[in-house]
Amino acid sequence: YDIEFDDATSHITIKRKSTGTVLWDASLNDLIFSNQYLQITTTVPSTSVYGFGEHEHPSFKHSMNFATYGMFSRDQSPTTFANLYGVHPFYMCVETDSNAHGVLLLNSNAQDVSLSPNPSLTFRTIGGILDFYMFLGPTPENVIQQYTEAIGRPHMPAYWSLGFQLSRWGYGSIDVLKETVDRMHYYDIPYDVQHSDIDYMERRLDFTYDKENYAGLPEYIKHLKKEGMHYVLILDPFISKDEEPGTYRPYDLGEEMGVWVNNSDGVTPAVGKAWPDGHSVFPDYTNPRTVEWWTQMCLELKDVLDYDGIWIDMNEPSNFDRGQYPGCAVNEINNPPYIPSISDRALAQKTLCPDSKTYLGDHYNTHSLFGWSQTAPTFHAAQKATGKRAFVLSRSTFVGSGKHGGHWLGDNFSQWKDMHQSIIGILEFNLFGIPYVGADICGFNSDTTYELCLRWMQLGSFYPFSRNHNAEGNSAQDPAVFGAEFAKISRDTLRIRYSLLPYLYTLFYESHVHGNTVARSLMHE
Ligand code: NOJ
Repeated sequence: YDIEFDDATSHITIKRKSTGTVLWDASLNDLIFSNQYLQITTTVPSTSVYGFGEHEHPSFKHSMNFATYGMFSRDQSPTTFANLYGVHPFYMCVETDSNAHGVLLLNSNAQDVSLSPNPSLTFRTIGGILDFYMFLGPTPENVIQQYTEAIGRPHMPAYWSLGFQLSRWGYGSIDVLKETVDRMHYYDIPYDVQHSDIDYMERRLDFTYDKENYAGLPEYIKHLKKEGMHYVLILDPFISKDEEPGTYRPYDLGEEMGVWVNNSDGVTPAVGKAWPDGHSVFPDYTNPRTVEWWTQMCLELKDVLDYDGIWIDMNEPSNFDRGQYPGCAVNEINNPPYIPSISDRALAQKTLCPDSKTYLGDHYNTHSLFGWSQTAPTFHAAQKATGKRAFVLSRSTFVGSGKHGGHWLGDNFSQWKDMHQSIIGILEFNLFGIPYVGADICGFNSDTTYELCLRWMQLGSFYPFSRNHNAEGNSAQDPAVFGAEFAKISRDTLRIRYSLLPYLYTLFYESHVHGNTVARSLMHE
């Protein structure tokens, strides 16, 4: 491309050399560059704009009719326009002659982007710098190849992780888990991976298991593995600080090593409220000491529960209050003059105060990097623990997360709309370089229905990451629970998936080596 700067009008234009198409035209008269507010507007050459995340977008190709999307990682069920778990300030634009280009704003601060019919884009961020990268394609597929060359190619998933996976929050006991596994086998439903959600833990404490309700879990995991299955365990990023001293090693060791996110004083750990009873502290994965501690804990866990993969949840990071105890101080960093278009218009809502300190800097700057900073260490820990290719599934993601992990689209609802939206989300994460992606088949929140779940099993059989997952308290929705007819249809569709696994595996290989998408819209073809 060529970049031109016009002194008379203060316009900066970026043109595709081969066609002369103006990809960017930004007036520097509109540029605002202050400490806590940076804004730039550019025209784009067509209204065919895709990407930006993570959100539930009503369509894959964006409406340019004055839509604004906030980006700031957040524990938030998919709701149209809301900022969700991850942050991807990346878009692709298909020009009127079908050439495509992509643009990344590499910035981790809370930000938003407005799409206007001009057509134009306005970027606003409340920190960092305006660090833009352009990828000229010229095909949509070339754009993603170039983008992933810059941010890191997607990891090569293990072959077994392309099999069908089953999960739910709240089996409640090993007996119910076993009954579920047994009926899956009874109906001969293709099925390779079982997950355990937080109810396997003792009182929701990481690195423990419930020796009453899940007595015999270590042996049962070994048994399933002997039969050729694989096992994935969930881990949350918060660690209870309220266990008796000397009884909970993850906290005691972490405390000794000084691995937590700190309050604004940079010394005392930030104390919040999450799943465990009492209060919790938050590991700061940007700190090399934390990586050491986390790796050690994952290795020790492996000696007890013989997992094949790790599912890292709640890593936005989620905290159930607005900021940590006793609330956020009134200062400029906690109360910036502009808060981007994010849920509640509050940076500390459901997370920590922006002036908390991480090794890499203020939480204000590093908040949306929390899940990203946890993904690589977990990948390496899993690799070390298993001696095999690692499996890491992360709820929060950032630019480059695909190098070490996959993603599921979070706490969707058992509704037809959510089944539809899942396709858009999966296509978008393929643009973001995270092709190992799927949505909770049959829906997470609320009870599913026979017809919805059946259709969703049929669709989900073709997700790159194919897992049926359900929330606590909802009626069972595994494909074996609805009887013979449902099981047969699920079996048939999953067998089509399995017949295509060499093809799917090859797509992942192409993605890992050349940066291709795995699930792609026809536009890429
Ligand atoms: C939130 C996750 O998004 C969901 O998948 C999980 O079941 C619950 N946390 C409980 O761990």
